[in-house]
Amino acid sequence: MKGLNDKVAIVAGAAPGNIGGAAALRLAAEGMKVVVADYNQAAAGALADEIRSSGGAALPVAFDITDEGSVKHLIDVTTATYHRVDGLFNVAADLSPRAFGSDTDVTDVSVDVWRHTLDVNLTGYFYMIRHTLAIMIRQGGGSIINTMSSSVWMGETNHVAYQSSKSGLIGLTRHTASLGGKHGVRTNLLSPGVILTKAALSATTEEWRAEILKGVRSPRLGFPEDIAGVVAFLFSDDALYINGQSLLVDGGANFT
Ligand SMILES: NC(=O)c1ccc[n+]([C@@H]2O[C@H](COP(=O)([O-])OP(=O)(O)OC[C@H]3O[C@@H](n4cnc5c(N)ncnc54)[C@H](O)[C@@H]3O)[C@@H](O)[C@H]2O)c1
Repeated sequence: MKGLNDKVAIVAGAAPGNIGGAAALRLAAEGMKVVVADYNQAAAGALADEIRSSGGAALPVAFDITDEGSVKHLIDVTTATYHRVDGLFNVAADLSPRAFGSDTDVTDVSVDVWRHTLDVNLTGYFYMIRHTLAIMIRQGGGSIINTMSSSVWMGETNHVAYQSSKSGLIGLTRHTASLGGKHGVRTNLLSPGVILTKAALSATTEEWRAEILKGVRSPRLGFPEDIAGVVAFLFSDDALYINGQSLLVDGGANFT
């Protein structure tokens, strides 16, 4: 894709087998230097090793997106190593049983789960942009992608904190698109549909997947690589005139 070679990307929430992991591999294959950032240090290290073993450039950094000091350290390490930041893919989420799994409805969810979910999915993305935007503006351009979810439009009766935090990204994205736009910094929202990550494949049954597929216009459900290609496109010069937009990548699901 145009304009990616030798540029620098941060993937915030990248581990083998997940959406961020596939994006990191794809961006490295396009010639970008990739900062593989995740809460899980071992996972970030393994992914960076995989990129390097196929000839790409990668820097693993362990960080906590809910901690502004940790985010600042991530950006400092990135600029100390690669001297610029061209692409930022905010993709972290805590989908563990104690967070997403305990995120029930508005009458029942604990305030701790509500706050933690907003901390990761919304405040964390805010920290990432807060410490990257000025660098991109100084450079004269960049591309930021915030990961939302098609579930925001479904109004599910559970996952109130997840849906609310992801909805907040609409405002953060449009604000940042306006602030950075005149300086060549584009900010967009990417909403995956049902994506069969390694974790999703092991947590679901074939029967469940067949049932979900009935509501999708495409012949199969999505894979992390389907999202990775769109990330590469939005970072590339082929997408230079796309700013402040929301892209639903769900195979044409008819439940949203
Ligand atoms: N998989 C899907 O079907 C799907 C659908 C819609 C939206 N999404 C969104 O796509 C994104 C990626 O989803 P995924 O399925 O790959 O999830 P995932 O759980 O596999 O990946 C999320 C990553 O974020 C990291 N993370 C969690 N807490 C963190 C913290 N405090 N600091 C830094 N990193 C942290 C995790 O370690 C993990 O590697 C998420 O934002 C999710 O909401 C996924």
